[in-house]
Amino acid sequence: MTDQNALKRAVAAKALEYVQDGMKLGLGSGSTAEIFVEMLAPRARAGQKLLCVPTSERTAALARKLGLTLSTLDELAPLDLTIDGADEADRNLDLIKGGGGMHLREKIVAAASKKMIVIADESKLVPRLGKFPLPIEVVEFGHKVTARHLAETFASLGYGLVPLRLREKDGALFKTDSGNLIYDCAFGAIHNAPKLASAISAVPGMVEHGLFIGIATTLLIAGPGEVEVINRA
Ligand code: A5P
Repeated sequence: MTDQNALKRAVAAKALEYVQDGMKLGLGSGSTAEIFVEMLAPRARAGQKLLCVPTSERTAALARKLGLTLSTLDELAPLDLTIDGADEADRNLDLIKGGGGMHLREKIVAAASKKMIVIADESKLVPRLGKFPLPIEVVEFGHKVTARHLAETFASLGYGLVPLRLREKDGALFKTDSGNLIYDCAFGAIHNAPKLASAISAVPGMVEHGLFIGIATTLLIAGPGEVEVINRA
């Protein structure tokens, strides 16, 4: 097992301590969230009544295979708790998500949860968001126009020339679970994440961006020997 994998396991195990019998849970996406799902499944097999909403088709398939009971967000909301990973997190509990292209459903589910616990290894904790390119999901129709509009928005906020890269996978355009495209926007450093998030949200054609502002309630960060718990003040 790589060291990073050991950290992901440690942080997923810590998150399990927050789960109680009878809870309605949001299941995140990505490798750390998948480890959490694998650790959660024995609880259900042991008889705990857990109802889960997956945030991606991939997590849904894994959870189903492991015997977790799945339902829809519309059926279960509000959820008690969502557990999800992140691509970057700061000590304000602001996040960048969407490295796997699942941030649209992840945000809908987290926003419909009373609590969101973010699980990550220490490599994800940053003093300032933005080194990880910000994923922005857009509808395919007119996506180049939307990208130009996004670039103008970034420039108007003083970010200068931000490279926008249309995400591809296996030589084709990457499509999200909702059939949309993603532009990865390399800011380098984001100075005012709430302001940037609001400005991006105003661009027509933009479906959802990967900035999670004021949504996470607890951040669990695994380092060698300990998992740091950072709660929203
Ligand atoms: C999925 O779109 C992302 O938001 C994931 O939560 C993020 O990429 C974290 O994934 P890892 O746990 O694999 O790093």
